[in-house]
Amino acid sequence: MAEIRFDGRVAVVTGAGGGLGRAYALLLAARGAKVVVNDLGGTFDGHGADSTPAQKVVDEIKADGGEAVANYDSVAEWESAQKIIQTAIDTYGRIDILINNAGILRDKSLMKMEIADYLKVIEVHLNGTYFCTKAAFPYMREQNYGRIVSTASVAGLYGNFGQTNYGAAKMGIVGLMNCVAQEGARYGILANTIVPTAGTRLTATVMPPDIVEKLKPEYVAPVVAYMCSEQFQESGKIFTAGGGYFSRAAIIEGPGVVLDITAEITPDMIAEKFDAIKSLEGGREYSSATEQTGVILSKMS
Ligand code: NAI
Repeated sequence: MAEIRFDGRVAVVTGAGGGLGRAYALLLAARGAKVVVNDLGGTFDGHGADSTPAQKVVDEIKADGGEAVANYDSVAEWESAQKIIQTAIDTYGRIDILINNAGILRDKSLMKMEIADYLKVIEVHLNGTYFCTKAAFPYMREQNYGRIVSTASVAGLYGNFGQTNYGAAKMGIVGLMNCVAQEGARYGILANTIVPTAGTRLTATVMPPDIVEKLKPEYVAPVVAYMCSEQFQESGKIFTAGGGYFSRAAIIEGPGVVLDITAEITPDMIAEKFDAIKSLEGGREYSSATEQTGVILSKMS
């Protein structure tokens, strides 16, 4: 199998000043990509700004003989997100790869969370992913090629105490990527989601230091790089990675039951059939909303 390389490709990695984004940027650059290293450089909970982290990663890439340019705009507003993508166009003339990775945390239980903390997390993760994707999409469509990898979390897939804002944003990103995958299909644009687990300044707030040290971001980067490559052909999929573990997650729908709609369907009938309704045995994935609706219609008839 040919070595996976990114020669001639241009990548934008958001939030690449540290943690996972830095590992992605370094790996792509080491394999020939020209990289826009975006990072606003604020605190882990989204305060302030600092150009140092992004610039440092650019310096590292250049010291290793790679090509990179820094950008310090926020993903969280439409105008500034456009500037991130524009940096790729102005500097390198194209954008082939977008990794939506920037993120913050503002954890608090539902009742204690300030509305501003809910909104801020949605703005950075969900709106930021939407804005950067929307800004990059026309260029990818024009060149009939694009790879978009966005970042979700087990907090969204499976739930986590104190992360209603974050969990909502992360699952929103899964829905967003499902739809972008469909809109991008005819233009060679593939959109997928990574669910990482790594020791970074974000997870240092909840993980013990020895685990943070063990779960290096570098263990997640190879699958993300593969997801950004020409060789990769999947779209609308979720992959999980951390500490050498790699797998795919998916939404599965059970085969369900079909009740006679010519008679009244009562809550008691639902209760009676509930074990079968709930069962995922023999369940399956759907590749689109249309496909699932088609199955409902065919079961009806
Ligand atoms: P990190 O804090 O090291 O990296 C996030 C980067 O995003 C920071 O450098 C930060 O300055 C930047 N950033 C924040 N707001 C920004 C904005 N508005 N515009 C541009 N840049 C901004 O944390 P980590 O862990 O590397 O996180 C990367 C992504 O992975 C995040 O989306 C996070 O939610 C996600 N994630 C991480 C997990 C982990 O185990 N580390 C688990 C699940 C998801």
